[in-house]
Amino acid sequence: MFQSDLLKDKTIFITGGGTGLGKSMAKRFLELNAQVVIASRKLEVLEKTAEELQSLSGGEILPLELDVRDYNAVVSTLKAAISHFGSVDILLNNAAGNFVSPTEALSHKAFDVISDIVLKGSYNTTLAFGKHWIKTKQTARILNIVTTYASTGSGYVVPSAIAKSGVQTLTRSLAVEWAKYGITMNAIAPGPFPTEGAWARLLPPGLEEKFIDRIPLKRVGDHLELANLAAFLVSDQSQYINGEVITIDGGEWLKGAGEFNFLDVLSQEDWLEMEKQVRNANKS
Ligand code: HXC
Ligand code: NAP
Repeated sequence: MFQSDLLKDKTIFITGGGTGLGKSMAKRFLELNAQVVIASRKLEVLEKTAEELQSLSGGEILPLELDVRDYNAVVSTLKAAISHFGSVDILLNNAAGNFVSPTEALSHKAFDVISDIVLKGSYNTTLAFGKHWIKTKQTARILNIVTTYASTGSGYVVPSAIAKSGVQTLTRSLAVEWAKYGITMNAIAPGPFPTEGAWARLLPPGLEEKFIDRIPLKRVGDHLELANLAAFLVSDQSQYINGEVITIDGGEWLKGAGEFNFLDVLSQEDWLEMEKQVRNANKS
């Protein structure tokens, strides 16, 4: 889909890049010749991922331990990345935490746990990287991974929905405020993409089929589809896209929104009956 040097000379810092979608995006960026930092809490997991991805492709990957909830740790990890690669050009806020639960069953601590990673974590990295880029007069780009329910809201994942909509608002706010510094940003809102992290915490056993049935394309997302969208959005080719939230969900959320989409359940015979009914109504 892209020329192999699309991301040459770009250093991309991915929070939570050791697993799941972060790992898939790291792999794609490396194939497109980027230099990649993957940063999260579990250094062992990161090192294993770095070893695996380094052996597959040309770009260089650096694993760094980081808890995004700690602002000072973000600042020192950014310094470590710069001292290794010379600069960081792109921040990808991908780290997250989530679980499904009836909201009334949650303690206030459960809310904190999720919003500390998702909202405060993204705010911490964005602020630390932004201050650095503004001070050094470097143009830069941020990509945030949100969810489709950041816009619609969703029951049973309420702490995540609140936190992700905060990240979406952060994206739209700073895309405007920081454009004058040459810092632009966008978000991707993915529908379901199977990962160990999300599936184990979010999909009640036996409900996968029901989940997929709601998607007009009748399938979940392929990691490469998301990774290619991310590669485009961090590349120079998409510079004029700023403050956008791009949905990649096979039409899932719109299916829930369109008032008559439930008519999928009608058979061919039902439709013939319906046509008769409508034509008769027109005559009377
Ligand atoms: C109710 C729960 C709970 C559950 C934890 N808590 N799990 N409440 N139901 N299933 C509550 C606890 O009761 C506790 O409050 C508080 O949360 C913190 O508990 P911890 O023991 O610290 O939580 P723990 O389970 O150890 O860690 C939670 C976590 C962890 C930090 C979020 O799961 C994590 O590291 N996750 C990172 C990876 C991840 O979540 N990936 C999925 C991303 S997918 P009290 O007061 O009782 O002590 C995504 C979008 C998916 O974001 C969209 C799909 C379409
Ligand atoms: P995942 O594999 O569980 O990824 C989450 C990552 O966040 C982990 O690598 C984890 O690494 C990191 N993380 C958690 N807490 C952290 C902290 N305090 N500091 C630094 N890193 C932390 O799940 P995923 O499905 O790939 O999710 C990736 C992103 O996609 C998330 O933003 C998620 O909300 C979004 N998303 C996923 C889907 C989907 O269907 N999979 C749908 C919509 C949106 P450590 O444990 O090492 O810290």
